[in-house]
Amino acid sequence: MSQDVKLLAVDTSCDESCAAVFDVAEWRLMSDAVHSHVDAMARYGGVVPEIASREHVRGLPLAVQEACEKAGVALKDIDWFVVTNRPGLIGALLVGVAYVKALAFALGKPFSVLNHIEAHLFSPLITARDETQKAPPPFPWIALVVSGGHTELFHVKGAQDWKWLGGTLDDAAGEAFDKVGKLLKMPYPAGPLIDRWVREKATDEHRKRHAFPRAKVEGLQFSYSGLKTAVALHLQSVGELDDERKLAVCASAQEAILDPLVDKVRLAMKQYDCRNAVVTGGVACNSRLRAKLPEAYFPAPRHCTDNAAMVAVLGALHSQEGLLQPAPWNVSAQAHMD
Ligand code: KG4
Ligand code: ZN
Repeated sequence: MSQDVKLLAVDTSCDESCAAVFDVAEWRLMSDAVHSHVDAMARYGGVVPEIASREHVRGLPLAVQEACEKAGVALKDIDWFVVTNRPGLIGALLVGVAYVKALAFALGKPFSVLNHIEAHLFSPLITARDETQKAPPPFPWIALVVSGGHTELFHVKGAQDWKWLGGTLDDAAGEAFDKVGKLLKMPYPAGPLIDRWVREKATDEHRKRHAFPRAKVEGLQFSYSGLKTAVALHLQSVGELDDERKLAVCASAQEAILDPLVDKVRLAMKQYDCRNAVVTGGVACNSRLRAKLPEAYFPAPRHCTDNAAMVAVLGALHSQEGLLQPAPWNVSAQAHMD
């Protein structure tokens, strides 16, 4: 593919309908649109997969339209479409893939499918040529992808050269934030609310009041299911809490979620003799994590939570390396072991 290419990227892996337009030659993000389903999910206290699929049917065309308008391009100006097809909620992914496939077919343009986690992994490069943002460190990186669905560590030597090092054995860190919040009857998603409340009101004493468990798991792995149980048992034993006590539970639980993230990033840096770390995914927005891990590079918060700019950047990296393959139009009942 020539470098003079405009990509339209789409992500519908969870509960945000995302679209972005990216100019590969100029390495410039032209637009980035996110239609969140948070309001639709709030009454259920978490993501309901069927509702997410339906919200994508409504929200994705709006996100694509917004991305094109902000970029000042028409759909016919797009040279290549990219969309994440794994991993995620299957019904939600299907909406994005079917939509992009139909657009590409109607416009006679190619489309490619990409990995959502790999897109998070390279999200620091969205700002690589944006002078208003701090530049990301050069490779190699130890990279932590930490969100509502994932807590995974990688060793990244280059755009096509990365290795998974370890991940959570059960819940993801963002899920732990949201479950603690749910136990405290906070709205979904509780992660950003806990972050803000603790930052604005908590003291060191609040952060240390409860010694919630940090799971002792081998090597570069994580486990958060025990924390949720510990918080639930604590709440059962004390009954109704006033705000001051709730704040201490939030502040102490946040420390118990973040400490293993900090420890394991540092352990991986040591094991792999790697000086640079990057942290992405929704939990990378957390202000306390940013303070506890000052040696790591964190992308702008809007590029940490789910977005299509990161998908566009991954597509652009693949296209620069000549690796962006058009996806086939057909389906196959047989496994392709790639
Ligand atoms: O990456 P993301 O938008 O979606 C996926 O899960 O893939 O991440 C959302 C998760 C939620 O669990 C949310 O509570 C958490 O990231 N989150 C935060 C913060 N902002 C988002 N957790 C802690 N502190 C934050 N500031
Ligand atoms: Zn994600």
